[in-house]
This record gives sequence, structure tokens and C-alpha cells, in this order.
Amino acid sequence: MSYYLTTPIYYVNSTPHIGHAYTTIAADIFVRHHRQRGEDTFFLTGVDEHADKVARVATEQGLEPQEYVDQIVTAWKELPELVNASIDYFIRTTDEGHKTFVQDFLQRIYDNGDVYQDVYAGLYCVGCEAFKSDDELVDGKCPDHGVEPEWIEEKNWFFRLSAYQDKLLALYAERPDFVLPEFRANEARGFIAGGLRDFSISRATQTWGIPIPWDPVQVAYVWADALVNYVSALTYAPKAELGFWPGRHLLAKDILRFHCVYWPALLLSAGYEVPKQLFVHGYLNLEGRGISKSLGNVIDPRKLIDVYGVDPLRYWVARAAVFGQDADVSVESFQERYERELGNDLGNLVSRTTAMIAKYRDGRIPVAPGLGDQAAVERLATEVPRRLDDFDLTGAIELIWEFVRSLNKFVTDAKPWELAKDEANADELDRVLYALADGLRIAAITLQAYLPETAPKILAALGQPEDVSWDGVAYGKTVSGEPVVAAEPLFPRVEAPAAAA
Ligand code: MSP
Repeated sequence: MSYYLTTPIYYVNSTPHIGHAYTTIAADIFVRHHRQRGEDTFFLTGVDEHADKVARVATEQGLEPQEYVDQIVTAWKELPELVNASIDYFIRTTDEGHKTFVQDFLQRIYDNGDVYQDVYAGLYCVGCEAFKSDDELVDGKCPDHGVEPEWIEEKNWFFRLSAYQDKLLALYAERPDFVLPEFRANEARGFIAGGLRDFSISRATQTWGIPIPWDPVQVAYVWADALVNYVSALTYAPKAELGFWPGRHLLAKDILRFHCVYWPALLLSAGYEVPKQLFVHGYLNLEGRGISKSLGNVIDPRKLIDVYGVDPLRYWVARAAVFGQDADVSVESFQERYERELGNDLGNLVSRTTAMIAKYRDGRIPVAPGLGDQAAVERLATEVPRRLDDFDLTGAIELIWEFVRSLNKFVTDAKPWELAKDEANADELDRVLYALADGLRIAAITLQAYLPETAPKILAALGQPEDVSWDGVAYGKTVSGEPVVAAEPLFPRVEAPAAAA
């Protein structure tokens, strides 16, 4: 089994914010989970460098576009590192391997008869890097960027998207889960059914981009270059192979049309398989508004990580919104979940359990199965993977958290501190401590994809082997192991949450 997942490649006209971290973290959780299941995974992220808006920022800064992207790419390469995303390759669309592949890809479309020359005149939003029709504008402005589009008129090479309408409708009919969630598939299908207009895949007036192979005075339109990254990377990234294609794409609703309509059509034309699946998530808003540099309301993921650590940020990604929906987010709600769920539900449970094993049993976990909830463990073992296969990031963490809460209830009900008062209860105390240790070990393995720093700490605190493979999500596999000492708090109190805002 192989699992190939991508994030969008981000524009380098500014630096990363929490919205970009959101997608990258979510993608990493899926990939880590599939790795735990022993699958052959490949995880791709990177940057989209040939945009006109990138060239404009370079000019504003008095730099050549290449100089500019070479500088700013450092901030983007830090993003996956910062959020502990276990990527296999970071693609730049200025990579030689990518450029060659795009030229070959476009040539294939041309040779297939799907490209013709025409004059295009229309309103173009540089923020979207897309032409806009009148009905897409609000008061003459692009609603996403709040700016008036520019009039562009030039002779371009066009892709015959209209010729793919029936094929795309057939694809959506045959594969109801091609695009998830379902309401996004409906949106894409509706757009296709409404009639597709050919779009230009070249730019005559720009020089920053990949030359069109049959007409090198023009460069490729940024989307005809960027989308192709998902396949091009497999031809030259270390440890990649074309065998990973078709893969799965994660993206937000802002770029649905490009991914769910243009991209499959381009692939069909070039003679490649369409993606296996696309998941379109929602938008995070701050105080009811989108997050962007131009709105001046970005949260820098680095600041949250400095204050709370990386795992709390990752946990919040799974919790901030029902994955797929939009949500309003705030630093206050982040802090609240940090204290209540990570600090109390999980962190305290680990501290208490290890302290009791240290105190009552000299740090040796008594191997005395019998009291744990085997049915709940079996449910976790099958249901979490099922939900994550459906990209249900939130549903899976909810199940895991139900289990963590049930362990808290178990300890409150069983009162091991009372049992410890009377030697006659020694066997019962053994069983209670074992059930707790076993439950925590299982919780740690299920949480590994979400909390990759914390899960091994929990296993180590319990003196268990480091192995996080999914087979470990099984009842009664806890061993006596290394001696257990009372663990340090995993999620210490944070006094000044405002510092993160
Ligand atoms: N370069 C294109 C993508 C090309 S992919 C072949 C692009 N870049 S972008 O920098 O604008 O990134 C957009 C993506 O960033 C969204 O689809 C989403 O994954 C992520 N997000 C940016 N802001 C976000 C929010 N406020 N909320 C959720 N996701 C956000 O589009």
C-alpha cells in the first residue's frame, strides 16, 4: 500500500502564517498515521514561485525575481520544520527538474490537440492569479482580495477545457468520493455542469516563468506550472517514484476550482491518471475575517510554538474547526483547550499514573490485565483509521479523546489511593494500575500522528518500547518494562497567553 499526500505549494509573495501551517500540519497528521500503519508514504509540500504577484514584490524590493525567491524561500522551508511536518520533499517550481517536466507536460497537451491560440481580454485579479467574470466581483472588486482586477488583453495559448466537460462529469459520477467533503464535490460538479470555458495557459507579457516549449517568448500561466508539481516532484525528488501517482491532495476551498476542475482535465489531456482523491478544507477566520497579511491580522505560528510548544499547535489544528468547515479561531480558545484537554485530561493523567506506579509499586508496572475496556480499544483500533481514511481529522481525535476521558473516569471511580491503604486490595490495585498504564500506552500510540513529541514521552514515562506502529493499539500489550518514575508535567501552565497574540 502506498500513500502519497500533498499540500498546496504556497505563494512566496509573503511569509507563512497560521493558515498555511494549518494545512501543512493536517497533512502531516494523515501521513504520520499511514506510516504507523506500515504504508509506503510520500509527503510533498513546497512553494509556487512563478506567480506574477511574486515578480511584482521582487520588483518593489529592487530585486530580480530569482534573487527574491532564493531569499524568501528560507522562511518557507522553515515552516514544515517548525511544525514538525515529516515531509519527504520540499518542491520549488524553480527546480530544474520541475521546469523540464512542465515543458514536457505542456507539450503533451499541445501534441494531443488541446491547445490553440487566441486573443484574450478580461479582468484579471493578481491576488487570485485568475481572470474574473463580472458576476464574481463585488462592487467591481475581487471579494477575496478587496482590489479591483486589471484589464489584460493579449494573444495567448488556450487549453480546451470545454472539451473535457463530459469526461469530468463522468468522473464525478463514477467516483462519489473523488472530492471530499461531499458538499465540495457538489460545488465542483455544479461548476462543471454550468459549462466550462477554455483558459489560457500562457502569458505573453511576462518573462518570469517557464518558457512555453513551442513558443518560448511566452511563459506558462502560473497555475499550468504549479499544479504539475504534484507529478513532477515524483520524477526527481530523492526516494520518490512515479509509482506514487495517483496521489491525494489537501487544499482549502479558495483553490477548489483549479484542483477539482482544471487539474484533472490537464492530467487527462497529458495522458496521466487523475488524482486518487482531493480533500477541500475550510477557512480559519480571526474575528470573523479571513487571515492575511493585507488584512494585518496574521497569527505567526512561531509565536504560538514559542509559548506552548509544537504539539499543542498541532492538537489545535485538529480541534479548531470540524475539519472541512470554516471556523472562527482565537488565541483565547487555543489557551482554553491547552489547559483543559492537554493539561488536565492528558498531562495530569500521565503524571498521576506514573506517580502512583512509582509510589505503590516501586516503579514496576504490575502485569495484571483484566480491568481495561477491551471493546473500547478495539473500536479505536479500527475506527480511528477509518475516520482518518475519510480525512476526518476531528472525528478521529474526538474518539481518541473519549478514550482519554474514560481513563480519567476510571481512575476517579477506582480510587487507587484508597485501595493502597489496605494490603488486602493489592491484587485489585495491580489490576487498576495495569489498566491505566495499558490505556495510556494505547492512547499514546493513537495520538502519535497528532502529537509526535508527546507520544514517545508518554511511552518512555511508562517504560514502554518506543514502537508506535498501529499494531500496538491492542489490549493488554503493556509490559513491565523499564522502571517508572513520576513524570514531569507534559503541558505546564502558560501564564501569559496574550504574548502569543
Ligand atoms: N500557490 C497557490 C497554490 C498552488 S497549488 C498547485 C496558492 N498559494 S497560497 O499561498 O495562497 O496558499 C493557499 C492555501 O493556503 C489554501 O488552499 C490553504 O491550504 C492555506 N491557507 C491559507 N490561508 C488559510 C486560512 N486562513 N485557513 C485555512 N487555510 C489557509 O493558493
